[in-house]
Amino acid sequence: MQGQFKLLGDIHDLSVGQNCSLTREPWPFFDVTGGGIVFGDNVVISSGVHILTHDHQFENPNWRDLDEVSSGTPTEIKDNVFIGVMAIIMPTCKSIGVNSVVGAGAVVTKDIPDNEIWAGNPAKKIRYVGGQNG
Ligand SMILES: CC(C)(COP(=O)(O)OP(=O)(O)OC[C@H]1O[C@@H](n2cnc3c(N)ncnc32)[C@H](O)[C@@H]1OP(=O)(O)O)[C@@H](O)C(=O)NCCC(=O)NCCS
Repeated sequence: MQGQFKLLGDIHDLSVGQNCSLTREPWPFFDVTGGGIVFGDNVVISSGVHILTHDHQFENPNWRDLDEVSSGTPTEIKDNVFIGVMAIIMPTCKSIGVNSVVGAGAVVTKDIPDNEIWAGNPAKKIRYVGGQNG
């Protein structure tokens, strides 16, 4: 992967395909503690992106003492995905599909299928890649 990133967790829980790149500072933050992150090929991650894979049990007042919540399965960022600046991929999103685009500043809480452009907070589909409106 070209560029730098900040990592929370074990580097062995991060898998990176061919020709992936990170654009510039502030470098992205990858939390791999909740099952890891798997990048496909040709993925571009813009500056300041956060990919989070764990959360806390906030409904319990003692959440600080409890185990973190994680799915135990990796978050997949599939081939040719572009993620715009400062987007946050929440632990509830486990997959961003092939060719899909995440807009700048998006907060992605759900899985994104292939060939879709999502933006906003919470992120929603704004159209398909290639021009067709969603
Ligand atoms: C998401 C994105 C790809 C959409 O581009 P687009 O298809 O040309 O979209 P448009 O500019 O035609 O906007 C379509 C609608 O989505 C909204 N929108 C576009 N980008 C948005 C974003 N990042 N967040 C929220 N809404 C967004 C527009 O306001 C517009 O809404 P409207 O239909 O109510 O007027 C683009 O806006 C974006 O965020 N690109 C990433 C930029 C970036 O990170 N650059 C750094 C490169 S290293």
